[in-house]
Amino acid sequence: MLILGIETSCDETAVALVEDGKKVFSDAVSSSLKFHKKYGGVIPEIASRLHLESIGFVLEDALKMAGMKLKDIVAVAVTREPGLTGSLLVGLSFARAVALAMAVPLIEINHLHAHLYAAFLERAREEKIPFPFIGLVVSGGHTSLFYVKNFSNIRLLGATLDDACGEAFDKVAKILGMGYPGGPLIERMAKKGEAQKVKFNRIRTKNPLDFSFSGIKTAVLYYINGRGVNLSNQESVSRLPIALVQDVAFAFQEVAFDSLIEKAELACRLNGVRRLVIGGGVASNNRLREKFSECAEKRSLKLFFSPKRFCTDNAAMVAGLGYCFFNKSKKRGKR
Ligand code: KG4
Ligand code: ZN
Repeated sequence: MLILGIETSCDETAVALVEDGKKVFSDAVSSSLKFHKKYGGVIPEIASRLHLESIGFVLEDALKMAGMKLKDIVAVAVTREPGLTGSLLVGLSFARAVALAMAVPLIEINHLHAHLYAAFLERAREEKIPFPFIGLVVSGGHTSLFYVKNFSNIRLLGATLDDACGEAFDKVAKILGMGYPGGPLIERMAKKGEAQKVKFNRIRTKNPLDFSFSGIKTAVLYYINGRGVNLSNQESVSRLPIALVQDVAFAFQEVAFDSLIEKAELACRLNGVRRLVIGGGVASNNRLREKFSECAEKRSLKLFFSPKRFCTDNAAMVAGLGYCFFNKSKKRGKR
């Protein structure tokens, strides 16, 4: 059963065709990132206007890539929340129109749950992910822990109280004079950073399953300020010694991932679950994968990562989760 997925919650206009919640026939993405770069973050008005301009073309691309026609789909799945209101509205209106024109059901999807579903895409039968599991979404907009009994029964255990983890990467990259988005740039710099040179502390939260990253970001800011750098002067920032930037990137990345690991591991322990599913843009980071794998081995946890190409925003994860709901309602209908 072929599902058409549509995702427009942030700056990516994405359309995908996925069969039976697993096989990704096409996954077309057009990003408006380059128009936001000079502002150092996504500008909602620009994002929604560009969704409107490109969504029709992205659908055409997805159909062409898959060698399929709209008449082949059995349902349309679309991201309903959370996200930028204007951007979501473009995707939702477009999806409604397609569903109406093709006389197929419209399935509305939660973006964060879709990030967790991404781990189920293209997965071999023998590597099936059993329920229940703890789900960790680490993206630019969210850092959340969930107890997933199944995709219709998901409980939020904790979330960030301030910046999302990816957002903190983006802000720290800005402080260090790098570009946007900062995640991949920090990862690259951190690879050459030396351990023990710089250290930042984890932030405690009242609910131990909540997260907080803005204090770590501020600690980086004070550390750089303390080196006599004028942060409002780009030239002064660009004179930062490269070794210092690498060491700070390393120390920041370590402490950010240590707090993700500490809380995810605690969520598993408190809920008596040994399976952990991880998705979202930050989950494409190799050091994150390495550190989580070390912890999983020590604590006998089974880890399931979303494939790297489905970590950042895409519509395949939306179509995949859409199939899950479509299939369930079909089975219910037969009873
Ligand atoms: O999931 P995503 O595409 O969008 C949201 O739903 O927010 O995540 C984007 C975020 C950005 O903050 C970006 O800096 C971060 O993911 N990111 C990374 C890496 N690749 C993307 N963070 C750390 N390391 C990476 N390799
Ligand atoms: Zn996302």
